[in-house]
Amino acid sequence: MNYEFRQGRLCVEDVHLTSVAERCGTPTYVYSAGMIRERYREYADALAGLDSRVCYAVKANSNLAILNLLVREGAGFDIVSGGELFRVLRAGGDASKVVFSGVGKTAAEIRYALEQGVASFNCESIAEIDVLDQVAGEMKKKAQVALRVNPDVNPVTHEYISTGLRENKFGIDMSVVEKAYEYAATLQHVAMTGVSCHIGSQMLDSAPMVEAVQRLVALAKRLQAAGLPIAHLDLGGGLGVKYEANERTPSIGLALAALRKVVEGTGLAITVEPGRSIVAESGVLLTRVLYRKNNGGKEFTIVDAGMNDLIRPSLYKAFHEIVPVVQKDSREILTDIVGPVCESGDWLAKQRRLPLMESGDLLAVKTAGAYGFGMSSNYNSRGRAAEVLIDGSRFEVIRERENWDDLVRGERIP
Ligand code: LLP
Repeated sequence: MNYEFRQGRLCVEDVHLTSVAERCGTPTYVYSAGMIRERYREYADALAGLDSRVCYAVKANSNLAILNLLVREGAGFDIVSGGELFRVLRAGGDASKVVFSGVGKTAAEIRYALEQGVASFNCESIAEIDVLDQVAGEMKKKAQVALRVNPDVNPVTHEYISTGLRENKFGIDMSVVEKAYEYAATLQHVAMTGVSCHIGSQMLDSAPMVEAVQRLVALAKRLQAAGLPIAHLDLGGGLGVKYEANERTPSIGLALAALRKVVEGTGLAITVEPGRSIVAESGVLLTRVLYRKNNGGKEFTIVDAGMNDLIRPSLYKAFHEIVPVVQKDSREILTDIVGPVCESGDWLAKQRRLPLMESGDLLAVKTAGAYGFGMSSNYNSRGRAAEVLIDGSRFEVIRERENWDDLVRGERIP
């Protein structure tokens, strides 16, 4: 177990979270290296023997230490910006294992990616392929391209993170995608060798993914029949994780086995782009109780982490389990857990049953390893949290807490 209570205190691997708080202060993101490796290996094992690549979606958590840990596991990377490519290279990653996704790549980002030699581009519009063709032409290169298809499959998840439906901005509509391939095949500096999709995130059932992949395989076969050299499929990411104890998620192994069945025997190489399912459960946000108050009969527990540190509850009404770091037998109360930011929307949890917490007590916001730190901001001029990586009994600060000088860096008074 990577997270368990020992002598009544919550530990990450062999380190007590109380000692992390003592050494680094709060709020702090803490990650278990062992758990990240384990999840990555589940993907790698599930695809073993297939011509395949696991490209970790950098956006889920882009800290250099985490990217480096995955580099050492042999991972490839799915990026959506030049900045993410820069991070991958800084972390020791190999551009030839990188796939460049995203709906709005700039010409400058495309040039940088071509210079560095990324493996392929997932393109989302004809206009983008035209720019890619032009930039690659100027550089006398030929880019490997997959079109991101919008397979119109309902991923059954939150509307903000569902991406595969027709009305979303992502991908190219199935009804016109063959025409798009036909056009792109006439260009000199792009090689149309793949088909890609990503239908959504936090999917708790693999059925929509299987349906999307069936549509992808059928499309690849039609394109091959029309003479295109389609050789690889990119299935995107999207596998969900357990945020609530009673939530049911397919294991990585089972979900991948279902996808594997659809692609096996087609002769197509496959890429998957998991983000959340690799890092979410490895991380907690460690926070300290500042105050308790009762307003209009309602209990509020005010903590030192706010929506600027973890925006998922405010933005998606996302549920994160919150537990006391030191077990207490005090009476339980129903309380909202809120941050210090000046917004009513600044909450981490509503109406939670928790032992009565006092000022100074520590709480761990669980399943915060994905889209936690990466979506954090400096709102209310709050420095971003520190990040810590635990590996067995080893403890490393992998990002310093931001100080006030960091807050004003780059600003000028004219
Ligand atoms: N590939 C592409 C093209 C994507 O857009 C995404 C995520 C992934 C892969 C990785 O998906 P994952 O395995 O992590 O589900 N901020 C939201 C999640 C946004 C996901 C965006 N795309 C959240 O906090 O829930």
